[in-house]
Amino acid sequence: DDGGPQPEKHCGHGRGGMGEEVTRKEDKRFITGRGNYVDDIKKPRMLHCEIVRSPHAHARIEDIDGSRAMALDDVVAVLTADDLLEHGLATMPTLMDDTQDVLVNDKVKFQSQEVAAVIATDRYAAKDGAEKVEVEYDVLDPVIGAEEALEDDAPVIREELDDQDDNHIFDWETGDAEATDAVFDAADVTVEEQMEYQRLHPAPIETCGCVADWDPGDDKMTVHMTSQAPHAHRTLFSQVSGIPEHKVRIVSPDVGGGFGNKVPIYPGYVVAAAASYVLERPVKWVEERSENIQTTGFARDYDMTGELAATENGEIKGVKVDVLADHGAYNAAAQPSKFPAGFFNIFTGSYDIEAAHGSLTAAYTNTAPGGVAYRCSFRVTEAVYLIERMVKVLADELDLDPAEIRRRNFIPSDAFPYESATGWNYDSGDYEKALDKALEMADYDHYREEQQRRIEEDADKLIGIGISSFTEVVGAGPGKQCDIAGIEMFDSADLRVNPTGNAVLRVGVQTQGQGHETTFAQIIAEELGMDVDNIVVEHGDTDTEPYGLGTYGSRSTPVAGAAAAVAARKVRDKAKSIAANELEAAEEDIEWDRESGEFHVAGAPERSITITEIAAGAYMNHPGSEEPGLEATNYYDPPEMTYPFGSYIVIVEVDRETGEVDFEKFVAVDDCGNRINPMIIEGQIHGGLAQGIGTAMMEHVTYDDNGNVTGGDFMNYLLPTAKEIPNFDTGHTVTPSPHHPIGAKGVGESPTVGSPPAIVNAVVDAMSHSGVSHVEMPMTPDAVWEALDEAELTL
Ligand code: CDP
Repeated sequence: DDGGPQPEKHCGHGRGGMGEEVTRKEDKRFITGRGNYVDDIKKPRMLHCEIVRSPHAHARIEDIDGSRAMALDDVVAVLTADDLLEHGLATMPTLMDDTQDVLVNDKVKFQSQEVAAVIATDRYAAKDGAEKVEVEYDVLDPVIGAEEALEDDAPVIREELDDQDDNHIFDWETGDAEATDAVFDAADVTVEEQMEYQRLHPAPIETCGCVADWDPGDDKMTVHMTSQAPHAHRTLFSQVSGIPEHKVRIVSPDVGGGFGNKVPIYPGYVVAAAASYVLERPVKWVEERSENIQTTGFARDYDMTGELAATENGEIKGVKVDVLADHGAYNAAAQPSKFPAGFFNIFTGSYDIEAAHGSLTAAYTNTAPGGVAYRCSFRVTEAVYLIERMVKVLADELDLDPAEIRRRNFIPSDAFPYESATGWNYDSGDYEKALDKALEMADYDHYREEQQRRIEEDADKLIGIGISSFTEVVGAGPGKQCDIAGIEMFDSADLRVNPTGNAVLRVGVQTQGQGHETTFAQIIAEELGMDVDNIVVEHGDTDTEPYGLGTYGSRSTPVAGAAAAVAARKVRDKAKSIAANELEAAEEDIEWDRESGEFHVAGAPERSITITEIAAGAYMNHPGSEEPGLEATNYYDPPEMTYPFGSYIVIVEVDRETGEVDFEKFVAVDDCGNRINPMIIEGQIHGGLAQGIGTAMMEHVTYDDNGNVTGGDFMNYLLPTAKEIPNFDTGHTVTPSPHHPIGAKGVGESPTVGSPPAIVNAVVDAMSHSGVSHVEMPMTPDAVWEALDEAELTL
């Protein structure tokens, strides 16, 4: 029912190629308890590192005394900034070219910042030692909140920086201010809404950690670490430490979730490596949960004001947005270097809008640094939230159905490739089709009637229906546009077919649970006619894998997936010449048949040969004109990004007495182009929707006025559990990417990006007949009850 050239049509080759629901190869290891995570690694003579953290958010360090810790039997060393200074490791660059203290040298800038490190023979001794380190602080007034930080009399947090006499980091602008103003002046109607995308934490189940092992015999540093980007981390490690890059090996074993949290380098990694270098023993550092939430990369924290200009029949003419961004104590956001606000300028969304303008100001505050792409392609989540909320605000202002207003403004399916008002080149899309499918699955008309009935009957529980028809941008590069710390964002695959016909695929991306060992093998199975069980996928070891930029921003399929397909096609080309030799035919007469997966002589399908037979020929009977072996490598620099999209419809029941929100129905229709493994995609969607519900309903890293993190552990930073998650009705359409070798787009983050506005729109929709235009996330029963109360809807 979905149209388009779908490899899913080939489903049923039975070899585990594109479109087949191959069960996850990696799961045998995980469900039999044989996963190998960083904290499972034990090395002879290994020491343990515990970090001493500041209880204050803003304070000068007067003195650090580690003597009582050193007096403990099992404590081997206490490290401070002075020790690191000797090795040039007291500071490290952030991904945005700022300089962050590894251990605080002079002034603490956020609560729980790293002040000293204790190294001991076991973890408990290290912890005991850390409690005995005495630090004298001169406590200063903290600056909490970006607005407060930019006030004239705010204390200056980064006074050590030349020319920094306030807390302002940067201003950024996009679009055409003049053209947008003109459209607003001429508009029939304009609407405005202020909304906060609260500070979130990616909260992977496995926290960050590493085992650093300096080998003085080989002058080589091996770091097993929870990394989403092992090669980029190798380059950064080499640059920070001065150890030549070929003498640094990063190994990322099984990773228990990353979600953007494991993209930056954190002080703990550097301290463990420095300690291993100095003590010439392996050193393990693994965070506790509260350390992870309180100090490693947070996400979002954008205070946004959106405006739309439209005709009276709901045709959107212009969009304006102004953002105040809290970046914490260092500018450590994880964005491609040339995009200080990430891909936020995709805020025109799925709509054909004539003029757009955006501006943003970023500020330092006495909070942990961050701005990572939490299951998100660099701030696209914030952009999608803004435009999808604003469309609902406009629909209410004009008394138009939110589905109808979307339909009137969608970029038409025949307008692709499409260039947006802020300069993005959308590859393909069919937004109306996805919305229609979602409306049908949601039984939309029925619920609209039910909503009206409840209002008329003054029922205790109101119905709200929320829609989000989002567009994403995923798959960074192209390298010319996108780089991380100067390294272009291409990716890679190296495919080696063995003489016995099985193969090893090595990729530059790093799975954290997404199922790459299965789906990347499926790409090879599809392209070579090989059985998926005969392909093993390796990743995460910089000594063996080709250089890649890692996994985040749903870039694995768009970039490394493309590299894998191209590498397989190179092998297929070489296989043709071997097939010609084996079949005693001319190479130009050899054809490959996707259906059978075999090579045969044109016009004589009975004269055929499999890839297994060709592999044997490549090593045992290679044609003189070719090198022996059957291997290929591809470094893929995408010509463009891919633009997955979807329509989500959420139907909620809001209790007027308690403010509680129940999910009646949750429909998610996604389009990620051609699909590799529908079952894995479904799993990705379910997980991402759960995170979207956490975002909309529960999660928030909060601070009090003294800079204490009051939402910094799982008692206070609430994650959704199975109890809070409803059943999801998932559906899909297929609009292939025209420039991707297998027509695929990314999918991993679509549900996290697309669902929060659908959920907020639903809750607002339950109350919009009484004038409610917005409820801030997280929409706890308290917050919803207050909105009900203000609208005089409480019982
Ligand atoms: O970069 P990341 O792996 O997080 O995201 P992704 O490229 O969107 O892929 C997430 C998972 O979904 C991977 O296992 C992909 O291979 C799979 N996927 C798929 O089966 N078909 C697609 N069109 C896109 C992703």
